[in-house]
Amino acid sequence: MRLLLLLLLPLVFTFLLPAAVPAAAPPLQPGYYAKTCPNAELIVRKVMKKAMIREPRSGASVMRFQFHDCFVNGCDGSMLLDDTPNMLGEKLSLSNINSLRSYEVVDEIKEALETACPQTVSCADIIIMASRYAVALSGGPNWEVKLGRKDSLFASQADADDIMPSPRANASTLINLFAKYDLSVKDLVALSGSHSIGNGRCFSVVFRLYNQSGTGRPDPTIEPKYRQKLEKLCPLGGDGNVTGDLDFTPHLFDNQYFKDLVNGRGFLNSDETLYTYWKTREYVKRYSEDEEEFFKDFVEGMIKMGDLQSGRPGEIRKNCRVVNGGQPVAEVRERKVLSYYM
Ligand code: HEM
Ligand SMILES: *[C@@H]1O[C@H](CO)[C@@H](O)[C@H](O)[C@H]1NC(C)=O
Ligand SMILES: *[C@@H]1O[C@H](CO)[C@@H](O)[C@H](O)[C@H]1NC(C)=O
Ligand SMILES: *[C@@H]1O[C@H](CO)[C@@H](O)[C@H](O)[C@H]1NC(C)=O
Repeated sequence: MRLLLLLLLPLVFTFLLPAAVPAAAPPLQPGYYAKTCPNAELIVRKVMKKAMIREPRSGASVMRFQFHDCFVNGCDGSMLLDDTPNMLGEKLSLSNINSLRSYEVVDEIKEALETACPQTVSCADIIIMASRYAVALSGGPNWEVKLGRKDSLFASQADADDIMPSPRANASTLINLFAKYDLSVKDLVALSGSHSIGNGRCFSVVFRLYNQSGTGRPDPTIEPKYRQKLEKLCPLGGDGNVTGDLDFTPHLFDNQYFKDLVNGRGFLNSDETLYTYWKTREYVKRYSEDEEEFFKDFVEGMIKMGDLQSGRPGEIRKNCRVVNGGQPVAEVRERKVLSYYM
């Protein structure tokens, strides 16, 4: 009996330990590819620059990927996976469908990296490097990123639906969401400053123009002239896909976003609420007056957000849209998003 136990003990350990102790993800580090792909960062920068010259908005669109990737089961490239017959991924989730864009820029970066150093640089790390360059190339801060992430083997539409916040969200909801990731109120406000670049759709603002909180009236915190402008851009019953600027300088990463919030000219409800709510207002005010402080806190927030990891097993994908050995699907699934926002 004792012998049997002794024989079984190693087995018990091999099977039980991994379950009990979550497979600790290897620590991320700057310069992770210094030996295996020394030009990785230069290559990412070059492709990003080309993409942003071709289409200036692509910087914002790619930078947004970091948020949508890292919040759903860690920064693991899961949001880049296409749906398969057995898996509904994140691309058609409520916040991503008809909204996330510039996936082709990540494909271009991946292709360039596969040519230089095959199967070495993860798609998850591409998102982190590309986001940083999108900010830096838009006039924002530059910083050293930690690398060494693996790509996930699956993606979950349901998780993305559950987690990603709606543009209707108020500041207290957002504070609670960010707290789940150990991101502070300061991190929330600083990271929202990413809306200093890029666009949003009418789909994301009509409710606050015509039916804020079901009142049948506009959000009273919108400054009247700005409201007129938004009403013209987004008439009731108009095309929800028309886009507007998230701040007054949408190609420049600066603190204009916070000045706009102070003036009641935030585009999204989730933006303006950061100024109207007492717990977040002081940060908005401070960043509107001190761009350097905004940059510093923004970089801190990006690094913290980039540290989110699920600890699940991963791989280095060859193609960011499919797991290795998987088949890309030609047909695109349909998903109707029924009156999610109005
Ligand atoms: C705090 C909660 C947040 C909410 C509720 C939110 C929501 C949104 C919405 C609704 C849009 C416009 C989408 C559309 O209308 O199609 C948008 C755009 C954008 N978001 Fe956020 N966001 C948040 C935080 C963040 C964070 C943390 C980042 C990055 C660090 C980010 C980066 C961006 C960028 C760059 C755009 C513009 C994208 C483009 O022009 O294609 N957002 N966000
Ligand atoms: C924020 O929104 C949540 C969810 O819609 C709601 O329960 C809560 O009362 C709101 N909080 C404030 C301070 O408006
Ligand atoms: C406004 O919102 C309320 C509550 O969600 C809803 O019952 C009502 O039908 C909406 N009105 C319009 C015009 O969409
Ligand atoms: C926006 O465009 C998408 C894709 O082109 C389309 O499927 C969707 O119905 C449009 N949405 C609205 C609200 O017009």
